[in-house]
Amino acid sequence: MRIFLDTANVDEIAHGVKLGVVSGVTTNPSLVSKVGCQSYQELVQKICSITSGDVSVEVIEEDASGMLAQARQISKWASNVVVKVPATEEGLEATSILTREGIRVNMTLCFSLNQAVLAALAGASYVSPFVGRLDDIGEDGMALIEDIVKVFNRYSYETRVLAASIRHPNHVLHAARVGAHVVTMPYKVLKQMIKHPLTDNGVERFLTDWRQSGSVFS
Ligand code: E4P
Repeated sequence: MRIFLDTANVDEIAHGVKLGVVSGVTTNPSLVSKVGCQSYQELVQKICSITSGDVSVEVIEEDASGMLAQARQISKWASNVVVKVPATEEGLEATSILTREGIRVNMTLCFSLNQAVLAALAGASYVSPFVGRLDDIGEDGMALIEDIVKVFNRYSYETRVLAASIRHPNHVLHAARVGAHVVTMPYKVLKQMIKHPLTDNGVERFLTDWRQSGSVFS
């Protein structure tokens, strides 16, 4: 399972890449608006220069022709860009055309197995089921990830299952257990994954014992 960061913040991405565990990025219009940008293209190119992994960049159009026009532009901004297209009827039409043109697509805002199967049949490189948003309305987001993984394996679909809308480290564990190919998470969740009080206490105790012993490092 690979880890992507779900952010448009270049400092967070640079840190994740430096840790050696982040191999891609997902953004969306809300995340971009959080950091603000004068030029969408410049921000995306900056992000794509920090990681060599896939960077999902969303179209901001509702109809297929608008999505196609933006997607074709976005795909030229960097070689590691994947265009994010919503799992709507218009999005499906755009995805089918884009994949035939060799432009990689991440079908986003996926909330059902049906949508995921259609994304795979349209040739999407990734499908992004939103776990947290399903949990928010009393549904079981991880059960959907599990279902999609099973069905994709059964039919050998090549579309990667990218668990999105991750809210806490338990979501990450669960996604790993059910076989998600990628989990995209906020920077905060990555930091939470690293942290364990016993590790911190252990490091402190080892250092204290060493210093008190008067031992010499050489
Ligand atoms: C995925 O690619 C989306 O950007 C993201 O995971 C949405 O998560 P949210 O529900 O926390 O906004």
